Amino acid sequence: MTKLRLIMTTTNQQVNIEKLASLCKRRGFIFQSSELYGGINGFWDYGPLGVELKRNIKDAWWQDVVQRRDDVVGLDSSIIMHPRIWEASGHLEGFSDPMVDCKTCKGRFRADQLDTSTCPQKPSKKVGECGGELTEPREFNLMFQTFVGPVRDDSSVAYLRPETAQGIFAQFDNVLSVSRQKVPFGIAQIGKAFRNEINPRNYIFRSREFEQMELEFFIKPGTDKEWHEQWVKERMDWYTRIGIAAENLSQYVYGDDELAHYASACVDIMYAFPFGVQELEGVAARGNFDLSRHSEFSGKKLEYFDPETNERFIPHVVEPSAGVDRIALAVLCEAYRIEWVPKEGSGGTLRLAEPDTKPPEGYEERTVLRFAPRVAPIKAAIFPLLKNRPELVEVAQRLYTDLKQTWPVFYDQTGAIGRRYRRQDEAGTPFGITVDFQTLEDQTVTWRDRDTMTQERVSLDEVAALLGDALK
Ligand code: GAP
Repeated sequence: MTKLRLIMTTTNQQVNIEKLASLCKRRGFIFQSSELYGGINGFWDYGPLGVELKRNIKDAWWQDVVQRRDDVVGLDSSIIMHPRIWEASGHLEGFSDPMVDCKTCKGRFRADQLDTSTCPQKPSKKVGECGGELTEPREFNLMFQTFVGPVRDDSSVAYLRPETAQGIFAQFDNVLSVSRQKVPFGIAQIGKAFRNEINPRNYIFRSREFEQMELEFFIKPGTDKEWHEQWVKERMDWYTRIGIAAENLSQYVYGDDELAHYASACVDIMYAFPFGVQELEGVAARGNFDLSRHSEFSGKKLEYFDPETNERFIPHVVEPSAGVDRIALAVLCEAYRIEWVPKEGSGGTLRLAEPDTKPPEGYEERTVLRFAPRVAPIKAAIFPLLKNRPELVEVAQRLYTDLKQTWPVFYDQTGAIGRRYRRQDEAGTPFGITVDFQTLEDQTVTWRDRDTMTQERVSLDEVAALLGDALK
């Protein structure tokens, strides 16, 4: 295979990651873990809106990769598994990054990321600016170690899984025997993974605790290329289905000299983050390395018997492996916009704000998260025009209670209606539905679109169907 690098050069510069992080904190998407005690580096908590966003991303993946297909089944394996699994997978021996220490500032860095790392001693910025000498690189294993049971000795050592994939390989035989699947078929899993990263960074992009969505798609040897191509295409398309613009996605195709010895192909799906073009997901054709190794280490055959050809073989595998937190960050970067909104009667048009500039005469600024409806934490907000008019409040609350049976919706009666719309724009709620005096006369409500800010009147009876259509 020829080496082909399709790295985009432009990044999503409109997004200032500090401003985005501040919005995420203010609106309850993402908090620093243990903030109360000064925080802990590389760990994050998801607040009320963040947890919904993440859940919607995971649901979208599960629907498209598992539920809507006949050839993929799910699994939820444990985080701590038999330590031999990590011997067989090669993680104990080789899952490490090269680390160096600065003898002066005591900073600890990944040797392969010195150019982009920062020196902890102020005012210096770049590694080495403090004048310190760096140690020789040494390998640092990224697996978190723990002990199982009350005795802490070598026999009780276990590891927090650094990937969900090995749980799938370890249960291949059980799943195959109960699921009536035939090769080609896949086993999918979503769950936490842990890596003791030397330098967690770029907000939630590289953390020490994160979630993965992994599929092991087992195939007949010799069909690796076609299945790998199919999965790369399917996974690229999926990102556009959750609202990532195709022009912000790219592929990094591994050259022969970059592939693991057992792999025949690997493509990383990349996103143009504000801090550079970086990996969201890897799609690798891993041959039969994993099943062979588990077979060797466990002493049990992990084979497939093909009833059509009467052949027995160890299936090969194509592995699309994605990080939920990275996707959440990409979705946030994609959705985040500061816009200039024309004041009523000014005749202007809605447009993107110029960075760090006050809005021109006749405009005001708004911050909006333009989430695709499928991943938006709140699907619609319901407002009575005035909170002190019981006849409006009653209709709005009834509508809210009805819609809430099916979708996450929000009710808000506090403050001026314009302020309420803005609050929902910041939360990324695609639709606003207002009950006003005309509702009492003709049973219609105002339906406001977050992105265009246009409003139209729709019948109260149609609201649920309209929302259902918009969320398909
Ligand atoms: N089973 C293959 C595997 O784990 P990987 O490239 O090491 O492959 C897959 O990880 C995905 O998991 C990455 O593309 C990324 O989205 C996510 N990921 C990996 N390390 C991460 C970290 N420290 N923080 C957040 N996400 C991470």
